[in-house]
Amino acid sequence: MSEPVTTGKSRPASADDPLTGVKHVILVMSGKGGVGKSTTATNLAMGLSKRGYRTGLLDADIYGPSIPTMLGVTGRPVSTDGKTIDPLERFGIKLMSIGFLLDDPKSAVIWRGPMLHGALQQFLKDVAWGELDYLVLDLPPGTGDVALSLAQRTSVTGAVIVTTPQNVATDDVFKSVSMCVKVDIPVLGVIENMSWFVDPAGIKHELFGKGGGQAVADFAKAPLLGQIPIDQTVREWGDKGTPVVQAAPDSAIAKAFLDLADKVVEVVAARSEEMEDDGGAPTIDRSGGPGGKRRLPVTK
Ligand SMILES: Nc1ncnc2c1ncn2[C@@H]1O[C@H](COP(=O)(O)OP(=O)(O)O)[C@@H](O)[C@H]1O
Ligand SMILES: [Mg+2]
Repeated sequence: MSEPVTTGKSRPASADDPLTGVKHVILVMSGKGGVGKSTTATNLAMGLSKRGYRTGLLDADIYGPSIPTMLGVTGRPVSTDGKTIDPLERFGIKLMSIGFLLDDPKSAVIWRGPMLHGALQQFLKDVAWGELDYLVLDLPPGTGDVALSLAQRTSVTGAVIVTTPQNVATDDVFKSVSMCVKVDIPVLGVIENMSWFVDPAGIKHELFGKGGGQAVADFAKAPLLGQIPIDQTVREWGDKGTPVVQAAPDSAIAKAFLDLADKVVEVVAARSEEMEDDGGAPTIDRSGGPGGKRRLPVTK
């Protein structure tokens, strides 16, 4: 394992920030479903961990949690101290997902807004994340709600926007960039997933067109952090519960994800340098915050 480079200064967090031991909070988001957010979030977290950073992965997709499957984890979190929820752990990554709390993994989550926000809030506040360099959040598709409520609860380092190369995907993705701007979440960069496919004869096919990632990056005034090709092993390993970065670390596709992790580290470190002089924690607007107090079903 290579020696990790500095993570830069921690994000500027206010005194009541729930994630006290977490240096950087990275949102993986996109306006659209099926573009590879969960795959990216999982392999990014794996990459960061492989580089020696203490990493956590929070599945914030309450309605469609995929982290339990992608990391092959079925356990149920418990509470050792009766107050905080212990995250599960796999391949050295700390994990939390609503999927761990469902009796039947196939059952649908039918909670409405307040409960959803309550659950997320509890994932931030009541999970014993401990000391982490990076907490990666896998967000549900859509432009609004969850990112907004997260931005109100904690000081987010920034968002990584996932898109595919084609326009249909990017139209929705532009909206998520605008949303980040509105709620003051810095866009760290853009990842273009499913950029091309190399057939067994070595010929490259741009199945979903091209240019989408760069277009979103230009719009966000942020760098294109990487282009991830379509690779059957990504899906296969994802379905088997071992992310490709873990299962085949020397493969070209794993290398693409590891490069991505390096890029994220670089951008985060550069940003924290920039913020050095700004000083002080941002004021967090909690006016639209979650309502009633709901508790998650966690075994004591
Ligand atoms: N680069 C890739 N190559 C091959 N399959 C991929 C790739 N990225 C994602 N997939 C597959 O596409 C599907 C959707 O990905 P997922 O990460 O669940 O998307 P999202 O979280 O945005 O809904 C999954 O079956 C996943 O395995
Ligand atoms: Mg997903």
